[in-house]
Amino acid sequence: MYKFKNFVHPLFASNTYVIYKENSNECIIIDPTDIAFRDLAKFLENNNLKPISIINTHGHYDHISGIDLVRETYKIPLYIHKNEEEFLRNPELNLSIYLGKNLIIKPAEYYVNDNDEIMGFKIIHTPGHTPGSICLKVENILIVGDLIFLNSIGRVDLPLSSEEDMRNSLIKILNYIDEDTTILPGHGRSFKLEDLKRENEILWSFINF
Ligand SMILES: [Fe+2]
Repeated sequence: MYKFKNFVHPLFASNTYVIYKENSNECIIIDPTDIAFRDLAKFLENNNLKPISIINTHGHYDHISGIDLVRETYKIPLYIHKNEEEFLRNPELNLSIYLGKNLIIKPAEYYVNDNDEIMGFKIIHTPGHTPGSICLKVENILIVGDLIFLNSIGRVDLPLSSEEDMRNSLIKILNYIDEDTTILPGHGRSFKLEDLKRENEILWSFINF
């Protein structure tokens, strides 16, 4: 059975996740941020967990700032969708320029596509927020990045966002969610389908518009 632990960036409230399997010491790191790194490293050490790869849901600054630090510390590769390649090296696309920073991350070692399976994680391509946004599914855990949050959906007013793709991706991802699914968003707390039905008016009106 898979378990997760999240680490929240204090400024941007973005979630870095460690996903690991009971009875195994291997883990995957999702969307590592720089400030979360110290707590993340402590957690891995205390739990004797060995990271084997980084998978990124997308390439915005608040999800990528710790990639190179994690990559260099643990000597592990980064997986990301090909359409996010440019975000890693372009501060305007990754939005760091609007914070007065020029965040540039080294190119990914591997690119992922829709339906790929990476170490047991199914990749679901869900463009809209960005063209290469992905979700990841393993057992009843669904990691959704900035596609969907408890009370809201990801922004579609950013460079290379697409409202139409967002609508299709939201409809697509609902096929992967049942009553038992635990949904882990890029910001905010995890939730279930019943929470979405009760609290996310924006989602239902957006897909029915
Ligand atoms: Fe984002």
